[in-house]
Amino acid sequence: MPPLFNETAATLLDGKAVASQLHDAIQQDIQSLLSGNTSEKNPAVPKLVVVLVGDNPASHVYVNKKAKTAKKLGMASEVLIYPESTPQEKLEAIIEALNTDASVHGILVQLPLPKQINTDRVINTIAPEKDVDGLHPVNMGRLLSGDPSVCAPCTPSGIITLLKHYNIDISGKHAVILGRSNIVGKPMGLLLLQENATVTVCHSKTQNLAEITQKADILVAAVGIPKIIDATMVKPDAVVIDVGINRTENGLVGDVDFESVQSVAGFITPVPGGVGPMTIATLMQNTLKLYKKAAAVCL
Ligand code: GUN
Repeated sequence: MPPLFNETAATLLDGKAVASQLHDAIQQDIQSLLSGNTSEKNPAVPKLVVVLVGDNPASHVYVNKKAKTAKKLGMASEVLIYPESTPQEKLEAIIEALNTDASVHGILVQLPLPKQINTDRVINTIAPEKDVDGLHPVNMGRLLSGDPSVCAPCTPSGIITLLKHYNIDISGKHAVILGRSNIVGKPMGLLLLQENATVTVCHSKTQNLAEITQKADILVAAVGIPKIIDATMVKPDAVVIDVGINRTENGLVGDVDFESVQSVAGFITPVPGGVGPMTIATLMQNTLKLYKKAAAVCL
């Protein structure tokens, strides 16, 4: 007989396994798209360029993972690394050159950027049709208006894919999001709304946080505070999505206290192996999408 805690523990939402399935599908799609279509004269394969400014060790790990995955799936990829002291104008000139390079389909500027850089101005410089992160105001606007063809930011988009993979009902559910960043919290709210959830967005000024999280059927934690969500804040059988990747003395820790919450929740993402791999798989999907759109324009 299996131990009792296995009977009550939440089902793991295995982002690593789902991402691997998505990678296989993307790889096959690329192979069939390219078979017979490329030649020495016309070597266009989907290409992702990742721009990294500075020495943030975590960012270096992430961008290398992104570039390596793109190559594994049959895309071209490049990581451009610049020093912490890079001036705004230089970074914008680099992006402008990528905008006009026809071999590049997706541009990702890894965030956060160093303090002297105005992030909004950098994002505004990326051509919307190469904005693989969906962060340009034009693409944010498209997302807001419900345009299904837009590349939505990779983390929230990957979370929706993960929920759908596990056949989790979103329609009519109360989804509570912790965090209102442009890259996760806000687009997560829009995507859940598009799936007919009732959405509440909580943030640093929210009062009575636990009272709100306890009402969540779907709880997305994306604030970067280790273990801010414990079992007392979670409704029994809720779906708990942990976006946090916090480096602590005790290693990688999410925004959710996994040990306690897993005995209350119905579904839960692990850290690592939950949302992170889904972000990368979605980035690959978005790159391919932009490539297909560019190819359609060229035909
Ligand atoms: N930093 C952490 N996650 C992301 C992401 O999804 N995109 C970008 N551009 N930077 C990030």
